[in-house]
This record gives sequence, structure tokens and C-alpha cells, in this order.
Amino acid sequence: MAGQDVVLSVQDLSIDYLTRRGRLQAVSHVSFDLHRGETLALIGESGCGKSTLNFGLMRLLPKTARTEAGKIVYTDRQNRSINILELNPRALRRFRWSECAMVFQGAQNSLNPVIHVRDMIFDTARAHGMNNRNEVRQRALELFRKVRLDPDRVFNAYPHELSGGMRQRVLIALGLLLNPQVVIFDEPTTALDILTQRSILNVLRDLKEELGFSSIFISHDLAVAAEIADTVATMYAGEIVEMGPVNDIFYEPRHAYTLGLMEASPRLSVGREELEGIPGSPPDLVEPPTGCKFHIRCPLAIESCKTTPPQLERVGAGHIVACYKSNEVLEKGKALRALPATHLS
Ligand SMILES: Nc1ncnc2c1ncn2[C@@H]1O[C@H](COP(=O)(O)OP(=O)(O)OP(=O)(O)O)[C@@H](O)[C@H]1O
Ligand SMILES: [Mg+2]
Repeated sequence: MAGQDVVLSVQDLSIDYLTRRGRLQAVSHVSFDLHRGETLALIGESGCGKSTLNFGLMRLLPKTARTEAGKIVYTDRQNRSINILELNPRALRRFRWSECAMVFQGAQNSLNPVIHVRDMIFDTARAHGMNNRNEVRQRALELFRKVRLDPDRVFNAYPHELSGGMRQRVLIALGLLLNPQVVIFDEPTTALDILTQRSILNVLRDLKEELGFSSIFISHDLAVAAEIADTVATMYAGEIVEMGPVNDIFYEPRHAYTLGLMEASPRLSVGREELEGIPGSPPDLVEPPTGCKFHIRCPLAIESCKTTPPQLERVGAGHIVACYKSNEVLEKGKALRALPATHLS
């Protein structure tokens, strides 16, 4: 995709939290470009920095967080470049929601039970200068229809009268209220049953087609991400360790961690009695390991993985990976795929 199509460019972004034990390196030297209309999925286990990265993009980090380095450049509809890290509070308020909206992780379970859905909508609209209640109502009803909700019923409901899946749709509609160019969905289908997950994914796919926004879709499940993404980035311990077109990542992963996520996905290992999973757990980010941060858990690690961090290198069109053993990972992945499912466990 051409350079001028980039709507959000993240360059060498690092974010630390100041904790009692010391600095916790939640995001380390992350770079990527999000193009117009593109869906980028961020995948990785709990604690790998997905939410922190996206709070950083929206400048919604808590006071204990420090954006240590990097640049976030947003291109608006008039083709003006805006450095998000330099916005004043007023410009930042405009940026949030009107330019870039976020559907927060777990928010469907923390809606205020005594506020009507319609008042949530009116409050959000008013906070961003949309004061014509009739217009706001029409826009909300139209969006409710698009996310396949019964518009009138939901508009006048209290959150507790709606199911988890319906509340998530309300939040998706709310995110789209001011017609943003970029929407961040943080684990939008986690904690929903499998059928509800599927219908939310279908809704998101249709919305993206119809409205043409760009999105960042956060998930710990590669199978879910693969259904919606154009591009997938694997995060481990605060770093992007692999990124590429969805089919490359899905069929030809090159990082041992991406392959591990694949083997750990229940939906991708149908017919297997036991999931391989990834042994161990993510490292302590106050004292991260030397070399490749994944080496302790990696079945393919060699001596240099322990001492020298591998750099991101190009292995295909738009496909980059930071792994010394990327060729072996590719072969291992192919061999696993070639086995009949029953022989895998
Ligand atoms: N407010 C905070 N103060 C200190 N450390 C934090 C804070 N928020 C997150 N962290 C730490 O930063 C790291 C990244 O956390 P983050 O929530 O971004 O991960 P995540 O990938 O979104 O995880 P999950 O899948 O569980 O949502 C973790 O080690 C976490 O413990
Ligand atoms: Mg998170």
C-alpha cells in the first residue's frame, strides 16, 4: 500500500509504568503504519502490552505511565499530519472520538446501570459539540440498525435490560457516533459465547465494508483475529515480534511465539486431544530477559537468542519477523499442518 494512504503511523513508541519495584517496560520500540480501510490485529497473551499501546495512541494512559520515546503521527481527512504526542488538551478532546475512537476492553460489563442508553449517547454527543438531539437520535438509530439491534427498544433501554452481546453492539455504535477514521476494538468478543462472538465479528466486518474506517483489533486469539484482519502483528513482552499480511501470519508464521499461539488456539487444533500451548509464562517486564525476550520459553532457542536481541527483518512482502530461527519455525509450522489432526496430540 502506498505511503500516502497511511492514516496512523507509530514510530519507535516505548511506554513505561513507574512501579514500586521499578520501571516496567510495557511497550518497547513499537512501529507500524495503519492504512486507510485496513484492519490491523494485535495478538498476544495477557500482559504483553496490547492495551497499553492503544491507551498510548489515545493519550489515555494513567499518570504513572511515561511515553519514553517515539512518535504517533495521525493524518486527518484534510491530509494534515498531526503529532498526537504534542496535542494540547482541547485538540486532544477533539481527536478522541471524532478522529479516533476506542471500544474499551470489558466495558460492556461496566456500563452505568442507572443511565439510559439514550443518555449515554446524548452525553457523548454533547461532549463533542453535537447538540442537536434530533440529529443525534437519528444517527444513533441508524447505527443501531447497522449493528443489528432493534433501534427503538435499545435506545430507550437501561444497560441491564440488554444481553452482553447487545451491550457490546451499543458500545460499537457509540464508538462510531462521530464518524471517526480510526476505531480501536480492545478484545471486543472476549467473554462472549461463541455464537455471539461470531455475530459481533460479522457485524464488524460489514461495518468496516460499509463505513470504510481503519481499525486496530486487539485479541489474544489468533483464530478470531484472522477472521477480521488484513494485517496481523504478534506482540510479546511489549514488542512487535512479527507482523505481516493475515494469510502469511496464519499459514506461514515465522516467529516461534506466533506458532505457539497457533498451537494454543482451541479453534485451530480441532481433533487434538490436548493443546500444545506455550510452556511457562511471559517475563517480568521490570527485569526483562537479555537477548530475545521469548528465548526462555522457546523450543528452538540457540545461544545467540540468549545474548543478542534479534532485529525485525523482512521475510516476504510486508512480512517482518525478529527471530534467528525463522526458517525452522516455517518448516515446523508446515510439518504440523501436514499431519492429520488425530496424530497431533
Ligand atoms: N496501571 C498500570 N501500572 C503498572 N503496570 C501496569 C499498568 N497497566 C498495565 N500494567 C502492566 O503492563 C504490562 C502490559 O499490560 P497491558 O494491560 O497493556 O497488557 P494486555 O496485552 O492488554 O493484556 P490483557 O490481554 O490481559 O488485556 C503488564 O505487565 C501489566 O501488568
Ligand atoms: Mg488488555
